[in-house]
Amino acid sequence: MMSPNEREQSTRTPYVAANWKMHKTVAEAAQFIDTLLPRIAATQSDVVVCPPFTALSAVVERRYGTAVRVAAQNMHEEGSGAFTGEISASMLVELDVEAVVLGHSERRQYFGETDASLARKVPAALAAGLEPILCVGESEAARDAGETEEVLERQLQVDLADVPAEDLDRVVVAYEPIWAIGTGRTASEAQAQEVCAFIRDVLRARGGAADRVRILYGGSVKPANAAELMSQADVDGALVGGASLDPAEFAAIVEAAA
Ligand code: PGA
Repeated sequence: MMSPNEREQSTRTPYVAANWKMHKTVAEAAQFIDTLLPRIAATQSDVVVCPPFTALSAVVERRYGTAVRVAAQNMHEEGSGAFTGEISASMLVELDVEAVVLGHSERRQYFGETDASLARKVPAALAAGLEPILCVGESEAARDAGETEEVLERQLQVDLADVPAEDLDRVVVAYEPIWAIGTGRTASEAQAQEVCAFIRDVLRARGGAADRVRILYGGSVKPANAAELMSQADVDGALVGGASLDPAEFAAIVEAAA
């Protein structure tokens, strides 16, 4: 017998995203896609590749006619203006980019990304027709202090403050505990499930169709741990960093989502 949560999970299409961070030239990106595509040809999951800005076009061109979608790793909240070094949502849409990672902890930690700016970026992405992949997660100190839920609730409430309840299911949420990113330390399946269920409860309390929202786990996901993490009732997929740089490893994680 399936539990109610498992039944709901089976109605959400699994979602696996490759966050390449500052890796891969155009030539390397093209080679990756050409190697990946035949390995995931049969997948029924949503597969999203997040290259650096410079490789977006090359990946978009190669993925036409396949299940792969393309996401940027960041964008600015304004449509245009004097913001040297920044990229707007409409610039991404023009390239046929379909999604954008927002609020990754590396952006928060190293580049001063704030919840206040995310509160503007998420609606700007939606207005442009981009699917936001909103990253939230607690530090090790916050977890040790028993403040995980408080931190996540605050991030979700502020970052999604201007998203109307009926649009919440157009947002993908990635739970990425900072202590698990690039460290080789993975949250246990039970920890990932507990927090992803909590995130769903917060979205439900905001009046959203929370049962339709894809909630991903991110942080040292590998082929060896992917299936167990993603089989949890409220974990609908993965945001993969290091292991997404190798097409065989990433394909194995996509396969584990099925
Ligand atoms: P990692 O990165 O898989 O290398 O831990 C995950 C992420 O930062 O999205």
